[in-house]
Amino acid sequence: MLSGGARGLDLAGRRVVISAGGTREALDPVRFIGNRSSGRQGYALAATAVARGTEVTLVAANVALADPAGAKVVPVTSAADLHEAMLAAAVGADAVVMAAAVADFRPEHYTPAKIKKAATAGPAPIDLVRTADVLLDLVGRRTPGQVVVGFAAETGDATGDVLEHGRAKLAAKGCDLLVVNEVGSALGFESAENAAVVLGADGAMTEVPHGAKEALADVVWDLVVPRLAPEPPGHR
Ligand code: CTP
Repeated sequence: MLSGGARGLDLAGRRVVISAGGTREALDPVRFIGNRSSGRQGYALAATAVARGTEVTLVAANVALADPAGAKVVPVTSAADLHEAMLAAAVGADAVVMAAAVADFRPEHYTPAKIKKAATAGPAPIDLVRTADVLLDLVGRRTPGQVVVGFAAETGDATGDVLEHGRAKLAAKGCDLLVVNEVGSALGFESAENAAVVLGADGAMTEVPHGAKEALADVVWDLVVPRLAPEPPGHR
């Protein structure tokens, strides 16, 4: 039984695509380069979107969580898999949310047999090459009226604070909304909770206090809904 809670079924008749989790880039059959993303934020986005009445495709990279009821889950492993799955699923979708932590680099060479320490005198360097930027490609192929949302995991550093990095990333990616998370400390990746600032390409800025990832997910949909293209007559 669907219920949108206080928000009602404000996404009914829509289709959204969400990526979640963290990609793994294989070195050999037993080793990979990965990251700490649990997938919880993407899964919270999927569960809240289903509750608000929409059809959900969830592209899940290496997530050890139960599938959200009512979402179509597409499992992927690497950044290349996620890239292909997201571009395919995004065609004709009303909104696309890139919550996954995607590797920026992958090993240049895959060793088909397990790498043995005895095979080299010392540790061999791992040469890395860039992966595709999925969010940038989604923005480049966005269909008219499609809302594209990115996430930014940032830490403050000598070149700027978390928000400055977020604003620069929003401009560089060209998405409609960017959810800026401060990572490190106890927040973000492996936590059930999150705090964020959501920046809009239209200058909007929404602070989301520390709380459950479902609460942040609902704020993201609150910001997506008014940005959606008007529904064509007879759409529902
Ligand atoms: N992203 C993506 N493809 C990549 C890397 C990131 O689609 N190869 C997406 C993420 O899903 C997220 C957004 O881009 O929605 C920002 O990710 P983030 O890791 O914060 O930034 P990067 O683009 O990787 O830039 P940098 O590491 O330089 O901060």
